[in-house]
Formats: sequence, structure tokens, C-alpha cells
Amino acid sequence: MKPVPVLLDCDPGHDDAIALVMAHRSPAIDLLGVSIVCGNATLDRTTDNALRILEFIGAKDVRVAAGCLSPLARELVLGTADGPSGLEGSPYLPKPKTRLDPLHAVEFLAHHLRAAAEPVTLVATGPLTNIGFLLLKYPSLKSKIARIVLMGGAMYRRTEYITPTEFNIFCDPEAARIVINSGLDVTMVGLDVTMHVIVEEPQFAQLRKIDTPLGRVVLDWLKFYEKLHRGQMGVGGALHDPLALAAVIDPTLITTRDAHVAVDLTGTFTFGATVADFWNERQLGTNVHVASSVDSERFFNMLYALLRD
Ligand code: BDR
Ligand code: CA
Repeated sequence: MKPVPVLLDCDPGHDDAIALVMAHRSPAIDLLGVSIVCGNATLDRTTDNALRILEFIGAKDVRVAAGCLSPLARELVLGTADGPSGLEGSPYLPKPKTRLDPLHAVEFLAHHLRAAAEPVTLVATGPLTNIGFLLLKYPSLKSKIARIVLMGGAMYRRTEYITPTEFNIFCDPEAARIVINSGLDVTMVGLDVTMHVIVEEPQFAQLRKIDTPLGRVVLDWLKFYEKLHRGQMGVGGALHDPLALAAVIDPTLITTRDAHVAVDLTGTFTFGATVADFWNERQLGTNVHVASSVDSERFFNMLYALLRD
């Protein structure tokens, strides 16, 4: 099958890092470029992390462009799941020699969309600042976007692990609102599903068997990440961003339900929450395919295979 052309916008971040690795290694993805946003750490750190990772995995040819330093309309609130560098656990990854693309991420994304022979899938695994800005600045480029698959949101709250808000949306809710109301085909891979792809001891046992330099780095990332998650939430590490990427490689990994999703910009305790109307009570039609279930076993098998092969 022809690989899917993808532009990946991310804020590495351990789970973003694994999404990057998967995007580069999957034959189902043609990774056209990577744009960086602030979120899990400040922009200089998320950018440095992306360059280190791509160089380490031999993806020096994948261009990286740095984007927005802060959300569209708010102060930056940093994520807390990845430690101060955004990628604790692997301080030994060499300093990158690869140069950053001179374009700002918004111009970089616009350039790649214009140049693409066919509509491109945008995968967003960080706050939606760069993509919201892109859609505001170049609305005519919407015709070059096949779909947007984003990690973000929390709709169902069936378990105690799901909070009313999810970080990527909370960090830049105005940008999220622009993206989900863009009229584009948007799939939200939120906490409802990502909190079911958890790395714990059985997954570590499989990862330990992948005794390669890459396998060992991923294991080190996940050991740090798992410990932090367990301390904060009492469960292992959720592979949020890798699942969004995996759902592009194999859309059958998740099921979705269509709904109108609104982002709460005023709630005291629900600020940044994604409020889904599955029964069309608001009579606003649908604007999002909301991921509602996941085959986590198949997800992990995909991950192991991509790390191994
Ligand atoms: C999202 O926030 C970040 O911590 C992760 O990288 C992921 O994109 C999960 O809420
Ligand atoms: Ca992320």
C-alpha cells in the first residue's frame, strides 16, 4: 500500500518521542517533516529533543522546524509528565549536529502542504498552537489537508483516571477550538482510549527482549515515564501520542463515534475540557470523530514490531 504522507507536529516529550520513532520506522507513513511546539517543555527543549531523537534513529534527512513559543492567547503552562528536560531518562543522547530548518513551523507546514502532490495527514501530538495558527493564516491550504489526527481531549470519563481536561487542549484551548471547528476531518484520540494503552511490567518484559540501541533507549524513556505516571496517577505510563500515530498507520486500532465537540473556555474547574454532544442535543451537527475504544494488544504488537524490525 502507498504510504500516507504525514506532517507531525509535536512537543517531545517521551510519548511524542515514541510517536516520532514509529512515524520514521513505519513503511505505512511517508514522514514529510516535523514541526515543534511548546508544551511538555519550553520550545528550545522540545526542539532539541526532537533533533536528538531523529539524529539518534538515523532520520537526519527529516527536516525539523520550530514553531510557537507560547499558546495563542495564554501564558504557557508546562506539562508535568516528562521531567524538566521533557525527555528525562536518556541524558546520554548525543547533542544533535543536524540544523534546524530556518522556517517557522507555520511557514514550514504551509510550504510542505503547498508542495505536496496529494492531501497530507496532519498528526498533532502537542498543544494545537502551530496548527491553529496555520489554519488562521492560510485557510486556503485546508484543501491540501486530508485529515487531522490529534492526541487530545477527554470525553467519556468512565474511569477515575480521566480528568475533565486533557493537557494538549488545556494548554492552548483557543487553538484547539480553531482546529476542531475548521471544517476539516478531525479525529481526536483522547484520554478515553490512551489511558488504555499503559506500559507496565508485562510490556516492559517485551521491551527488554528488544535488545538493540533503540530498544534500550525507548526502555529507558519508558522507565522514567512510568515511574512519574505511577507517582502522579497510580498507573503506569500511558502511550498517548504513539496511539494517535498508530491510528494513522492502522485506523482499525481504534473505533470512533461522531459528535459535536466544544472546548470549554470559561469553566472554573472544567476550563479546557472537551464537551462532546453524542446525542446532537445542541443541534450543531458533528465536527469530530471521537476515539471511543482501542485494541491495546494490537497497538503494543505494532510498537514492538516497529522497534524490532
Ligand atoms: C498529552 O500531554 C503530554 O503530556 C503528552 O505528550 C500527550 O501529548 C497527554 O495528555
Ligand atoms: Ca505530546
